[in-house]
Amino acid sequence: MAQQIIAKIISQKEVKPGCFKMALLAPAIAKAACPGQFLHIRCGSSSDPLLRRPVSIHRIDKSSLEILYNVVGRGTEILSKKKPGGSVDIIGPLGNGFNIYENSGSVKMLVAGGMGVAPLLGLSEELKRHKTKSIVILGAKTKNHILCGKEFKKLGAEVYIATEDGSMGKKGLATDLAREIIHSKRYKWHEMCIYAAGPTGMIKTLCKLMEGCSLESQVSLEERMACGLGACLGCAVDTQAGYKRVCKDGPVFKLCDIICE
Ligand SMILES: Cc1cc2nc3c(=O)[nH]c(=O)nc-3n(C[C@H](O)[C@H](O)[C@H](O)COP(=O)(O)OP(=O)(O)OC[C@H]3O[C@@H](n4cnc5c(N)ncnc54)[C@H](O)[C@@H]3O)c2cc1C
Ligand code: FES
Repeated sequence: MAQQIIAKIISQKEVKPGCFKMALLAPAIAKAACPGQFLHIRCGSSSDPLLRRPVSIHRIDKSSLEILYNVVGRGTEILSKKKPGGSVDIIGPLGNGFNIYENSGSVKMLVAGGMGVAPLLGLSEELKRHKTKSIVILGAKTKNHILCGKEFKKLGAEVYIATEDGSMGKKGLATDLAREIIHSKRYKWHEMCIYAAGPTGMIKTLCKLMEGCSLESQVSLEERMACGLGACLGCAVDTQAGYKRVCKDGPVFKLCDIICE
């Protein structure tokens, strides 16, 4: 059950230029949260900016939560100025997270495009708790934009990196590497399950890649949000079962349910 609380900021660190990691004390939300869910954050201390901003839950601890976010506009800029010891008004956990129980695939492939890595680290931790192997593909513009590689390796994941300029790992996109691994003979298709998060372009490419392939795939979608609670219909996406709300019915959907054009 989601709660609105004023959470104390335990730490705030700029991990890469313009990218921040913030830890928040939020015992009840941490207890209820699962990977893939998100927080709706009031970034300012007044009514400006009016709307909360959705940010994925990056890591879940017993009494705290971490978020990992890029400064892209006014809301995240204000958030990045907050200091440890201060507080932030959050609602969470919101939405439906990744489902790691319903399928039988024993090899989990996590595909992260850019900040899509944010919800996938918590998922990798959860998979480790279930003694499940994960293969992680991190894609970004340059090596300076690659995040969490060390953290995934520490969890025992097999990590592959793709950068658009070739400055680290393979030159190209995360989906190019995903294609290579899927089509290699290393894993049997029926053993695999894919979890992905990233920009819309990446999700569309993944849709094409998965056409006619029976692999179970779950993707976390991003849409601009207003209420974040399922009331305003501002975050609708087209699915095989009609329009669905990313905030309430997602943000995680089965890839085969989404209509990708
Ligand atoms: C479920 C969910 C989880 C998210 N998790 C994370 C996360 O873990 N880390 C992170 O850095 N970001 C995440 N985002 C994106 C984040 O919500 C936006 O970056 C943030 O709202 C921007 O707010 P702002 O006031 O700083 O920028 P604004 O001034 O509102 O916007 C600045 C620019 O960012 C674009 N933008 C704003 N919101 C979104 C959005 N939801 N999707 C795509 N583009 C957007 C705008 O079109 C504009 O170009 C998530 C979004 C959703 C829906
Ligand atoms: S943001 Fe209002 S319904 Fe999703």
